[in-house]
Amino acid sequence: MAEKKPLKITETILRDAHQSLIATRMTTEQMLPIIDKMDQVGYHAVECWGGATFDASLRFLKEDPWERLRKLRAGFKNTKLQMLFRGQNILGYNHYADDVVEYFVQKSIANGIDIIRIFDCLNDLRNLKTAVNAANKENGHAQVALSYTLGDAYTLDYWKEMAKQIEDMGAKSLCIKDMAGLLVPAKATELVQALKESVEIPIDLHTHYTSGVASMTYMKAVEAGCDIIDTAISPFSMGTSQPATEVMVEAFKGTEYDTGLDQNKLAEIADYFRPMREEALASGLMNTKVLGVNIQTLRYQVPGGMLSNLVSQLKEMGQEDKYEQVLEEVPRVRKDFGEPPLVTPSSQIVGTQAVLNVVSGERYKMVTKESKKLLSGEFGQTVKPFDKEVQKKCLGDDVEVITCRPADLIKPQLAEIEKEMAQYKQQDEDVLSYALFPQVATEFFKYREAQQNKVDAAAADTENKAYPV
Ligand code: CO
Repeated sequence: MAEKKPLKITETILRDAHQSLIATRMTTEQMLPIIDKMDQVGYHAVECWGGATFDASLRFLKEDPWERLRKLRAGFKNTKLQMLFRGQNILGYNHYADDVVEYFVQKSIANGIDIIRIFDCLNDLRNLKTAVNAANKENGHAQVALSYTLGDAYTLDYWKEMAKQIEDMGAKSLCIKDMAGLLVPAKATELVQALKESVEIPIDLHTHYTSGVASMTYMKAVEAGCDIIDTAISPFSMGTSQPATEVMVEAFKGTEYDTGLDQNKLAEIADYFRPMREEALASGLMNTKVLGVNIQTLRYQVPGGMLSNLVSQLKEMGQEDKYEQVLEEVPRVRKDFGEPPLVTPSSQIVGTQAVLNVVSGERYKMVTKESKKLLSGEFGQTVKPFDKEVQKKCLGDDVEVITCRPADLIKPQLAEIEKEMAQYKQQDEDVLSYALFPQVATEFFKYREAQQNKVDAAAADTENKAYPV
């Protein structure tokens, strides 16, 4: 047998898998009973924080995301914890000042994160620099992710050049982030080979099963030298999530890439999550639509999550019959907007604009605030120039377009934010929750206070009963 090159596995069940399949609704209580078992598996890392989990914890689950992270850290004694971080957007949808980005990275690492996967929706590397530097300063592992997409501009030379710059920037590893499942097996071979020629740092491939090719893509990528793959334990795998962990472990068993992971332990973990899947299917939280193969994603290069967003936007407007038209409009808007990858937040911006272009009956008759921002350069630089006519129609004649790194124009924000929310602050991290989601965080802080008062009242009540006066 050839020289051993054990493949590393990053488990996504606690972040991407439930974000992709059950709208990020898994609670900390649902996670905790199994993490001791997960900690014994020998995963390269467990992705468990960031992405949409932060917003969803505060907004829907009424949980403090920082408290979740501390509990996970306490349970995972041997396993690296990974989070997903949207560059200068952090975990929100706008650009923040450097001081907020730096403080967020510092607190994420202080509370237990080992690996920070950092990406930008336009692949504008200037938007990643502050976060990468901050992670390195805190002795964290900065992994930079390239948002994978298709289009004339996205040649192998483009990806190689980007990878080189990422390595030079100080990233400890590189991720190919294929959020829509667009990377087909033969292209994975080419891409991984090209990147391996370009950089020394380990390469991680992250894909989704949306278009049905993901496990074949992993096979080819690993054979081409990919070091790490992202998988989800079987009850929360496939569909818009990742390939199943057990399947990939089995597929490479006995080969030079043997992961060495124990199927018995994985089976116990799967047994734990299976009832949660059944429950989610019964309640409708997990929709069978996200579980099948969606070939539209290859036709229109639209990520799975974006497809379901488009359906619900059209439903709200009572215009569901326009679905096909909107799907055809998405690639056109994407071209007008400089052909960006479609990933949060560019996917929402392009998707919403495509809906407006179709339902209003005239392209760019109605233009969202976010579309204007994008066309003004406020999210950074796209790989291709914007369509001049479209830009003019959306912005008018006398709008100034930014060409510098957008955050260079944002003054420090922390001190002001801290002042604004001082009355709610119970821990330093609350400042960051508020910085990203002021309204949602305020509601959460009020809820938290009300709960604490309830507990205090109950405690006082018990005391009164125990020691009648
Ligand atoms: Co993903």
